[in-house]
Amino acid sequence: MLVPMPVLVSAPAKVNIALRVGPPRMDGFHPLNTVFEALDIFDDIVLHEAEGEISCEVSGIPGAETLPLDERNLAVRAAHLVRDRYGEPSMGAHISITKRIPLAGGMAGGSADAAGTLVGVNKLWNLGLDLPALHELAAELGSDVPFALVGSVALGRGRGEQLEPLRVGTMHSWVLLTSHEGLSTPEVFREFDVLMGYSPVAEELVADTQELQEALAGDDVDALSAHMINDLQEAAMSLRPSLREDLRIAREHGVAAILSGSGPTIAVLCESFTHADAAAGRLARLLPHYTVVRANGPAGPAHLR
Ligand code: C5P
Repeated sequence: MLVPMPVLVSAPAKVNIALRVGPPRMDGFHPLNTVFEALDIFDDIVLHEAEGEISCEVSGIPGAETLPLDERNLAVRAAHLVRDRYGEPSMGAHISITKRIPLAGGMAGGSADAAGTLVGVNKLWNLGLDLPALHELAAELGSDVPFALVGSVALGRGRGEQLEPLRVGTMHSWVLLTSHEGLSTPEVFREFDVLMGYSPVAEELVADTQELQEALAGDDVDALSAHMINDLQEAAMSLRPSLREDLRIAREHGVAAILSGSGPTIAVLCESFTHADAAAGRLARLLPHYTVVRANGPAGPAHLR
């Protein structure tokens, strides 16, 4: 009997160059105005045909073994959603994930795995779903999943799922300070509601991102750094006060440093590849309780290998 070939997919991490957050909507989600950038840190996913069963294994960076393998794992949910919506009960997949994206770090690692699985099972099960169909499923799975399907740099509105590609004038070199202990996204949003640091009105947010878009289209990272802001930062620092001093130190070694998404990953934008390499070495010595990761952006979307 012919054994079907496994399907190989890679899916990127993201950083939020800017993240403005409004007061919660009726459904509890917060309206966002955010600029996502995909980074060249990829989770690898291998999918094997498995008669009628959907299963998962995870390996890779420390802590990967603690991730759930049932439907609490967004990749498993993605496979079930595709099968329920477009497949047949006889379809199955074993999903094997090699994690490189920091866990619970505000870099959308779980969302990347879900996006990669959508792309992967589409191929594995020969469904022929187009990008708009995958995008719709992605938005059902989570706010950051659609961005992993488009990659590069995009403006995100709504919950983050309404995407518009943006022009970028140059590559960006980043140093990421990743924490061994993550922060829970819902908890950070809850704390944000307690602190009420809402960005006031939609028009103001749009005006902000227009200037940011101009800076993005140029090649001056200093100009871009003036627009880097994260409305969730105060909430994350309120849950983990040590982040304030760590951010201050990080800022001294880059052009700008902010938390990525709901944190606690500190994203340090640097002038150039060489500046970032040097800053990574210095920050590793100064902040030894972090794992320092070098990354560049923009990177491509979740893709078949
Ligand atoms: O969409 P996702 O499942 O990634 O969101 C995780 C949690 O983060 C939500 O349950 C919600 O508490 C919070 N969230 C939010 N507003 C957003 C995105 C996420 O309140 N736009």
